[in-house]
Amino acid sequence: MDKIYATITAVGSFVPETKLTNKDFESMIETTEEWILTRTGIQERGILKDKDKASSYLGTKACEKIIQTKNLDPKTIDAVICATVTPDFVFPANANLIAYNIGATNAFSFDLNAACSGFLYGLTMCTSFIESGRFKKILLVGAEKMSSIINYADRTTSILFGDGAAAVLIERTTDSECHIKDSILKSDGIGADFLKMKAGGSMFPASKETVEQKEHYIFQEGQSVFKYAVKCMADVSAELMARNHLIGDDIAWLVPHQANKRIIEATANRMAISMDKVMINIQKYGNTTSATIPLCLADWEKQLKKGDNLILAAFGGGFTWGATWVKWGYNS
Ligand code: COA
Repeated sequence: MDKIYATITAVGSFVPETKLTNKDFESMIETTEEWILTRTGIQERGILKDKDKASSYLGTKACEKIIQTKNLDPKTIDAVICATVTPDFVFPANANLIAYNIGATNAFSFDLNAACSGFLYGLTMCTSFIESGRFKKILLVGAEKMSSIINYADRTTSILFGDGAAAVLIERTTDSECHIKDSILKSDGIGADFLKMKAGGSMFPASKETVEQKEHYIFQEGQSVFKYAVKCMADVSAELMARNHLIGDDIAWLVPHQANKRIIEATANRMAISMDKVMINIQKYGNTTSATIPLCLADWEKQLKKGDNLILAAFGGGFTWGATWVKWGYNS
């Protein structure tokens, strides 16, 4: 019997129409358009304004695009997995809501929290699910309403994040060349205090004090996170490439997490990958946490060719980080 591999067969994305621009921030905090652009690479970010909608809505829209393009019967989907740090509720899981919305009535569904590395963690997990032979079709979606946990008076974090979602369909293939090839995932709890949302969990449940102290918002020690991000993303990508005997010239695209353009440039530089082979869309969306990497795949889908080597690399809160080697499986 042919060996079963896992491959991405479709991508879909959804970003809210309402944009918060760098100019908008000039009237909200002490900053300039120029500072934000030069220090982060971001020009605007999508913001989900509707009061009655949250990240499961964005995730649902991204999954619906895949269902439409693939003309997929949602009842054939075995699992829906949502990577998110901003689920609609602590529970039920966003994935449960998304599976219900899209009519994936035969799927099991759950959320995965690995912050900005959530999509890569999910991709490795889905690959193992498919390769086990027990499952045929899995929807993996990164969906975030980051605006729900941003303090718009804090100039060091508010400018960075945006709302959005993107999904991939992962299916079986017997193509021994083109599939999700390898990955290395890592974490280190030393990062817990550098990037966190302090309250709202079981340690500090919501109270008058936690609200007054603004502890339901993202806290980040930007410079420390920056240094770890560059080192960890580059190291893990280099390790993955070395163990698979890949050199920079073999790589068609580096698909990095979009947290700061300077982090992306420093990572690509350390990996000796030229910038024309690096996917960057941070200028349009900001940091959408677990959605950044699939959002890149969606934006570049038309340019991707069967057989292209992609290195996906992420770093995020926890700390969590990792890299995945994908040999792309289809032409659009
Ligand atoms: N507008 C204007 N000035 C700002 C500003 C803003 N929005 N935010 C911070 N500053 C100021 C700081 O207060 C500081 O002023 P000071 O020197 O008077 O104290 C100065 O700019 C430099 O701050 P610094 O923190 O050194 O800036 P930076 O170049 O490191 O950029 C970040 C800040 C947050 C953009 C950057 O550290 C970063 O991107 N960090 C990692 C983000 C990340 O990867 N997060 C998620 C991981 S998934």
